[in-house]
Amino acid sequence: MDCLKINTHSPEETQKLGMAIGEVAEPGDVYLLIGNLGAGKTCLTQGIAWGLGVKGYALSPSFVLVRQLLGRLPLYHIDLYRLDRLDEIADLGLEDYLYGRGVSVVEWADKGMSLLPAEHLLIRLDCPAENERTLELVAKGKRYQRRVERLESIWCGKTKHAAGD
Ligand SMILES: Nc1ncnc2c1ncn2[C@@H]1O[C@H](COP(=O)(O)OP(=O)(O)OP(=O)(O)O)[C@@H](O)[C@H]1O
Ligand SMILES: [Mg+2]
Repeated sequence: MDCLKINTHSPEETQKLGMAIGEVAEPGDVYLLIGNLGAGKTCLTQGIAWGLGVKGYALSPSFVLVRQLLGRLPLYHIDLYRLDRLDEIADLGLEDYLYGRGVSVVEWADKGMSLLPAEHLLIRLDCPAENERTLELVAKGKRYQRRVERLESIWCGKTKHAAGD
């Protein structure tokens, strides 16, 4: 299974999806996030951090390009928003994170796609209405197909269960 499309209706629901992603994450995973300002990339990443067991990841606006956090695995939260040129991104030396044993989450990944690993889980976020977000998870590579399959069973299983309550 390559692709999973999910709608969320609140920031909390997006965080909850992030938590599910954090729970199924394995060492070396790379999640590339693409979506406009306010699409919910940071909100999702916060959930991923919680799902990995990072305690109290409250985000404040900052100029930090890479945040390192420790949960069950290391989490590298990378935000390329302030960078526009490929050589600036190349100069960050992201390889140690991207090809390490932790989990890398990259906001504004579209700014540096050619420098990022070809195998990854692509997450496209869109904002069709004020509190609604669509998140499209696309597996690029076999290992990420397995993540998508697990997320489908966790998330869609939950939804069906909730609907039956
Ligand atoms: N369903 C939803 N999922 C996520 N965020 C939502 C949702 N509904 C409303 N929001 C709001 O949208 C905003 C998302 O902000 P967030 O910082 O996560 O976006 P972002 O994609 O990281 O933006 P930026 O490009 O500025 O980093 C928050 O203010 C959040 O409260
Ligand atoms: Mg953000």
